[in-house]
Amino acid sequence: MTPGEEGGGAGAVAATDRPQAAEERDPEVRATDARRIAVFGGVYSNWRALEAVVEDARRRGADELYCLGDLGAFGPNPDRIPPRLIDADVRTIRGNYDDSISRGLDDCQCGYTDPRDNHFARLSYRYTFRNTSERWREWMGTLPEQRRIEMAGREVLMCHGSPRRMNEFLWESTSSTQFLDWMAREHGADVVLCTHTGIHWKRRLSGGGWFANVGCIGRPPNDGRTDVWYTLLSTEGDGGEEPTSASSPGEREAPAGGNGGRDRSTGDGGDAALEVEFVPVSYDHEALAEEMRREELPEEFVETILTGWWTTCLEVLPAKERRRGRH
Ligand SMILES: [Fe+2]
Repeated sequence: MTPGEEGGGAGAVAATDRPQAAEERDPEVRATDARRIAVFGGVYSNWRALEAVVEDARRRGADELYCLGDLGAFGPNPDRIPPRLIDADVRTIRGNYDDSISRGLDDCQCGYTDPRDNHFARLSYRYTFRNTSERWREWMGTLPEQRRIEMAGREVLMCHGSPRRMNEFLWESTSSTQFLDWMAREHGADVVLCTHTGIHWKRRLSGGGWFANVGCIGRPPNDGRTDVWYTLLSTEGDGGEEPTSASSPGEREAPAGGNGGRDRSTGDGGDAALEVEFVPVSYDHEALAEEMRREELPEEFVETILTGWWTTCLEVLPAKERRRGRH
């Protein structure tokens, strides 16, 4: 039995157990001399947020940008996302949504069982599929499932749901440190970055690295505000503008008298330590809401963009994360 099976980890509602093949799990490691990278997931067709995040990340000195997948769903006009990612030189991996769209599957592989959640998931998927051109469907199918980089002597693994499964939900409240340690060790990574749930959080690993869910930029993290969040991974002491940082949406403000909300992994072996920081970004959410209405997307989705509270797909939320929301 693995620690994950002991109940430490997933809190998962997985539609398909589709273990990734070894060659997908262990892509080549690309060494980078970047001192700061920006990582985000869950674009959900929110092209306005994407543009704002790219601009903000560049302004803060990000040398490289990464997207961890789920380009469509929820928002309007999905064909606007791939060209913007390519133009901004964002290194992108394939999420479950992109995988479904590229393969012409019947659903997004999120595994909702609640009839209301299923209804909205189906609406969203059909809209996205119908409005994604053949060209970009094919392109999504060419995206790698994971990426690995070596940054400041640390191996960083980027995946969508988890290192072992594209559609695994990893929540802060249901993922024990023991389980995350095991997952990182099993996959040979010092730092693991994932997305898929839409809520960002981070955990320091026993070996000094990090496990972080970078959250999503397509909608707010169910916190009653309209900002979206992305993640910066930086070498210790790297300059740049100080972002607003918190461990998760449940902890909005930086601790008083501390280090400005920064957490530092303690490097060993002489390598520079890495910092994980979450950055809020505002964008023209009202214009996005108008566009969603023009596309006749559900008013429940529009409400989330305008209020910051999730209204759908709530069944996958563990009790602790759900209590933070309004619905
Ligand atoms: Fe996903």
